[in-house]
Amino acid sequence: MHYYLAITAALAVGVVARPANKPTGFIIKQVKNPNFHRNGPAEFAKALNKWLPYSETWDSPAIERRGDGSVVTNPASGSGDGADQEYLCPVNINGQVFKLDFDTGSSDLWVRGPTIPASGSHTAFAPKNGDNPIPNETWNITYGDKTGASGIVYSETVNVGPVAVTKQAVEVATSISPTFQRDPADGLLGLAFSGINTVKTNGQRTPQNTFFQNAITQKILNKPVFGVSLKYKAAGSYDFGFVRSTTNTTLAYTPVDRSHGFWGFTPSGVQIGGKAVSSSSSLTGIADTGTTLLLLPDDIVASYYQGTGAALANGHYTFPCSTTLPDFQVVIGAATITIPGKFINYDTVSKGSTTCFGGIQPSSQLKMNIYGDIFLKAAYVVFDATVGAPKLGFAPGS
Ligand SMILES: *[C@@H]1O[C@H](CO)[C@@H](O)[C@H](O)[C@H]1NC(C)=O
Ligand SMILES: *[C@@H]1O[C@H](CO)[C@@H](O)[C@H](O)[C@H]1NC(C)=O
Ligand SMILES: *[C@@H]1O[C@H](CO)[C@@H](O)[C@H](O)[C@H]1NC(C)=O
Repeated sequence: MHYYLAITAALAVGVVARPANKPTGFIIKQVKNPNFHRNGPAEFAKALNKWLPYSETWDSPAIERRGDGSVVTNPASGSGDGADQEYLCPVNINGQVFKLDFDTGSSDLWVRGPTIPASGSHTAFAPKNGDNPIPNETWNITYGDKTGASGIVYSETVNVGPVAVTKQAVEVATSISPTFQRDPADGLLGLAFSGINTVKTNGQRTPQNTFFQNAITQKILNKPVFGVSLKYKAAGSYDFGFVRSTTNTTLAYTPVDRSHGFWGFTPSGVQIGGKAVSSSSSLTGIADTGTTLLLLPDDIVASYYQGTGAALANGHYTFPCSTTLPDFQVVIGAATITIPGKFINYDTVSKGSTTCFGGIQPSSQLKMNIYGDIFLKAAYVVFDATVGAPKLGFAPGS
């Protein structure tokens, strides 16, 4: 899932903050895998996991692992007064460096192609001499708003930090939606499970391995894991093949339901300002770095904003920027991840506005909960793809 918040006047849907203001707008873009519809949200919600009653200590920093490595991830802003809309990592493909949005909610690695009109400081894929697209292979990702990206497929060496994967399916865009034309990213690097990759051969689905799956299959990583450290308005990192040990904390693990290709999990509970709140809906959702916000059941979101002066319009909560929002906790077994209220004061609705947009929003329109960046910024999260027992590990602090 790539579901990020872009505040754009041209595409305003009219979230009126105050009667005196001109309507300001939001458009929330969603890159959806078609499989999501095919499998259906009801089936997804069926996945009810319980956290495992164990935790694991962090790996020793002293152990140097050949093949493993980290890459920095930098926040890129939307068009309000500046917020973490998405996080971009440098990725070297055959000598060209692209800024890619690492997305644990999708499984295609795609970059802008040479036929896409140049814009901004984007890098477009330039095939080397003798490098040809794979015959008969195509790809096509459809977005929630019916826009998307599609193109042809190359097989290339891809370097993420020191991790070099060969014969990686690099999907080169011949067409992208206007939204991506404006996006600071040169493309996406999907880190969900490979089964939902959209490559087709002569029209038949032939899903290709993700970069992470190839790094495991090619025996580059010592462990089938990556650790994600996203930070509030600061650079973070993705650690491939190892779990970072910057603090003396333990990780709480919970099983993953990967049956729909996502990193699905179920927290044990949520709290508002330290007080447990329950929902009439399931808390099951996906850990998704490609989504800007935290999308939760409507009743929990309503409770959260109660008494803050927030208003619900067009399905989204906004509030006076001067409001001090409460902290929000997500409990995963032994780990309590506290999202500071200031993270949830996401951004002004437009430059200079005194109305702000909430980092927690209702999930009912999507029919699935998404534990996106607003949440992930408050934790160090380990994505562990151990065959037969995939799991997510959480420790407070990113
Ligand atoms: C591509 O598809 C066409 C039509 O099915 C087929 O004739 C051709 O052999 C394929 N090319 C390769 C290289 O597989
Ligand atoms: C990609 O999929 C969309 C939605 O199904 C469709 O409208 C579009 O024509 C497709 N693009 C290509 C190049 O097949
Ligand atoms: C880590 O925490 C454990 C348990 O509190 C403690 O026994 C240990 O000494 C700590 N290690 C370091 C390096 O601080």
